[in-house]
Amino acid sequence: MSFLSTTLARVKPSPTIAVTNMANELKAAGRDVIGLGAGEPDFDTPQNIKDAGKAAIDGGKTKYTAVDGIPELKKAIVAKFKRDNGLDYDASQVTVANGGKQILINALMATMNPGDEVIIPAPYWVSYPDMVLLAGGEPVIAEASIQTGFKLTADQLEAAITPKTKWFIFNSPSNPTGAGYTAEELKELTDVLMRHPHVWVMTDDMYEHLVYDDFEFATPAQVEPGLYDRTLTCNGVSKAYAMTGWRIGYAAGPKELIAAMRKIQSQSTSNPCSVSQWAAVEALDGTQDYIPENNKTFQRRRDLVVDMLNAAEGISCPTPEGAFYVYPSVAGCIGKTSAGGTKIENDEEFAKALLEEKGVAVVFGAAFGLSPNFRVSYATSDEALKEACTRIQDFCAGLS
Ligand SMILES: Cc1ncc(COP(=O)(O)O)c(C=O)c1O
Repeated sequence: MSFLSTTLARVKPSPTIAVTNMANELKAAGRDVIGLGAGEPDFDTPQNIKDAGKAAIDGGKTKYTAVDGIPELKKAIVAKFKRDNGLDYDASQVTVANGGKQILINALMATMNPGDEVIIPAPYWVSYPDMVLLAGGEPVIAEASIQTGFKLTADQLEAAITPKTKWFIFNSPSNPTGAGYTAEELKELTDVLMRHPHVWVMTDDMYEHLVYDDFEFATPAQVEPGLYDRTLTCNGVSKAYAMTGWRIGYAAGPKELIAAMRKIQSQSTSNPCSVSQWAAVEALDGTQDYIPENNKTFQRRRDLVVDMLNAAEGISCPTPEGAFYVYPSVAGCIGKTSAGGTKIENDEEFAKALLEEKGVAVVFGAAFGLSPNFRVSYATSDEALKEACTRIQDFCAGLS
């Protein structure tokens, strides 16, 4: 019998690892590689937040805390939901974990029984299906198409629902596409959910603040108050406040679910880092002024990347509403042969050949459940983006 668990056997190795390993090998061999794979802002954590972290250390806030968050942070989260989303929560409906990732796995571990289904729109963030599998559930992938800007339609959601559906995972703006649903678009989905009272909503609002062109963010419980009692609204400080390494995520939802998530966390990691929690209080309660400033930079980079990729032969790149990703299609490149002699049969081969021949690392679309595409993270300097997009244009021009 295998020493490793059968649950682990259900989880596939990360398909992004092959490209990442290859990029690292090429770098180690002295090749000039530009990485467009990073899932984090290239900005530093704002000074006021760092200072709050330092003050927490100096003030001796370095011991265990309540399992799922200090009262001061829960208070700041309650205020955030009211201020930004018009949602009323009590502190007992709030939980804090080691990053948004732990929030999601806590919720799944707390609710999955064998055979339970979780609807995940594709393209999806790579972790969702495997988290569902780890928790013992069954991912049900509902494919959105590039024609709708990678947004799921009401009919597609309706078709994916079965009596076994427990959760619908919703992520807007999305990793990997940057697609953001307007309140009207989201209402079409929540109308479907109102007809299926057994389906709960796990909304991952991690990129809430990273939106462009006056796009207005909307979240399910706000758009459809009738869903409030079966919605877990998940968020975190990682992306908007450039705090990926601090590991603070949070969620609000029905008390019983929050208590169940706390139970999982109490027997796994216990509290998130005490110092990080104090820094997160400052992130949420302190000035928010740098967010629009950072967004100006992201929007400029998005426009640069979309323009340059659309100028590459065989590539078509929609303009997304938010996050810091674009998800161009390489349909026009499939079946061609690169200057280096690789036959491009799919997006994985496109990404591999691009890396080998031009030293640009992107993540291929199959990793996110929708092909033939690739994901570019534009959370890097304008110079690196220009150089990388020029190389992608050269690579495409060399296809025959
Ligand atoms: C859509 C989405 N949700 C959640 C997370 C996890 O965030 P955290 O770093 O806070 O665990 C990420 C990180 O890449 C993400 O892209």
